[in-house]
Amino acid sequence: MHFQWYPGHMTKAKRQMQEDMKLIDLVIELVDARIPLGSRNPDIDELGRNKARLILMNKADLADERQTESWMAYFREKGYFAVRLDARSKSGMKAIGAEIMKACQEKIERDRKRGIKNRPVRAMVVGIPNVGKSTFINTYAGKACAKTGNKPGVTKGKQWIKLNKNVELLDTPGILWPKFEDQQVGLHLALIGSIKDEILNMDELSLELIRILKEKYPGVLGERYGVEEGQDAPEILLSVAKKRNCLKKGNELDYGKAAALLLDEFRSGSLGRISLEFPEEGL
Ligand code: G4P
Repeated sequence: MHFQWYPGHMTKAKRQMQEDMKLIDLVIELVDARIPLGSRNPDIDELGRNKARLILMNKADLADERQTESWMAYFREKGYFAVRLDARSKSGMKAIGAEIMKACQEKIERDRKRGIKNRPVRAMVVGIPNVGKSTFINTYAGKACAKTGNKPGVTKGKQWIKLNKNVELLDTPGILWPKFEDQQVGLHLALIGSIKDEILNMDELSLELIRILKEKYPGVLGERYGVEEGQDAPEILLSVAKKRNCLKKGNELDYGKAAALLLDEFRSGSLGRISLEFPEEGL
């Protein structure tokens, strides 16, 4: 699988994150609710050990609600705090404030015992590219938040966003790479649009999507495109091209157009709320 990451990038990103980890109490990790494991970085648990951990299941507006619910239970069982989120909307943000405090309860308690009062929790946002880190920081922190840099006790050059009297957020998110060497993960990342479309075979990708939908979400293709789901994937793509009048010059059917349409409608949520990973399959 092609990706924009190179070993040099990865080493640098990891080293940067190791440094940043020294400054914080809480790791706020964004994952994509449609592929909660595939959108994680394999090293994050090691990097974030001994820190409070909050997982935000972002883009939950696009994921299957039932699966998101199961994934949250899955993460909570493993000791993370977890919240579902649509980072573009302010409405989910209240729950996060409360969850941050819960996740940091131990640290707050420890401070209190040592006689340290009212030291804000310091947090950093991490995640793979395109998972919604900037959107989250913008929505959550907004423009009104004061930036506090270079003050005593704050490492030079680091900018902190004061979210409220209890929480400060490092203003630049940590970017890590996914497990893109895993074929299944690579496929899922491509389907949700996390890998540049120019380097992908879109026809092949749309056939994979058709196969997944047929198996996991029977009825979706039939309902949306009026196609017969009993056919195999290439025949379904052909039917979509016909039904949606995807034509080249000379009235020849255009598979490429149909493939792009299908992927677009999946990614935008027009096909409904669909998850690609299922906790019971234990990916
Ligand atoms: P990053 O910093 O982690 O790289 O991600 P970023 O915030 O840039 O978000 C990547 C894309 O995902 C953006 O779309 C953003 O609007 C979208 N996004 C972020 N959070 C959510 C969410 O909870 N739900 C949905 N449906 N989309 C979300 P874009 O196409 O790059 O830009 P635009 O469409 O916003 O212009």
